[in-house]
Amino acid sequence: MSVKTIVAGNWKMHKTAADTAAFLDAFLPKTGSLPESIEIVVAPPFVSIPTASVRLRDTRVHLGAQTMHWELEGAFTGEISAPMLREFGVSHVIVGHSERRAYCNETDRTVHLKVRTALEQGLTPIVAVGETLEERNAGETDRRVIEQTRAALDGVRADQLFRLVIAYEPIWAIGTGRNCDPHEADRVMATIRGCRDGLGDTPILYGGSMTADNVAAYMQQRNVNGGLVGGASLDPDGFAALIANAVSS
Ligand code: PGA
Repeated sequence: MSVKTIVAGNWKMHKTAADTAAFLDAFLPKTGSLPESIEIVVAPPFVSIPTASVRLRDTRVHLGAQTMHWELEGAFTGEISAPMLREFGVSHVIVGHSERRAYCNETDRTVHLKVRTALEQGLTPIVAVGETLEERNAGETDRRVIEQTRAALDGVRADQLFRLVIAYEPIWAIGTGRNCDPHEADRVMATIRGCRDGLGDTPILYGGSMTADNVAAYMQQRNVNGGLVGGASLDPDGFAALIANAVSS
């Protein structure tokens, strides 16, 4: 079985519902000419999900969310649950993005709880792991990504591992224009793949200043199965160009 190639756009706190409609009206007609082997995901802000859901029905583009709560319902003001997402056809959910770890108290434990719930609820978690610049400079990159990956996947059954996605996102590379050297990203991603049995068929994405110009260099690497893309996913032409260049060689 070959590992799936996935390109996921993480829009973060960008695009109103009207902006989302305009993006998809421009982007969807382009998807017919993009490589069929690539699974395309867009993850708009929650309030734009209903608009995206209508536009994406019967298209090849999958709908993602940027986070969710691990409980299915309850007294969690401001939170969104897996069943609420599924009602709108959401299939993927980003879990443990470094911005949520840094600003919203996401921890290895809550990431783990969210991964379990997402899998139980039939959502594909895209689990983000990655080191800070301080950790990299201190030679702690491998230790940190192994710790994050093992914690996130604790208790996940072997037969569930192919249903999840891991994204290696060095924090210092996110939104900085300073992307990680593709060979070094591949080395870390090999470490992630090897840190637990059964990750051989799990797609591992690179994230961190990925662009239409540098995506091909990542896709040439053995352990790279696609990208989690922030800034370069916001423009329909640019995102389509990135996906066109993401064919694995
Ligand atoms: P970036 O963001 O592509 O803008 O660096 C990636 C991410 O945060 O997922």
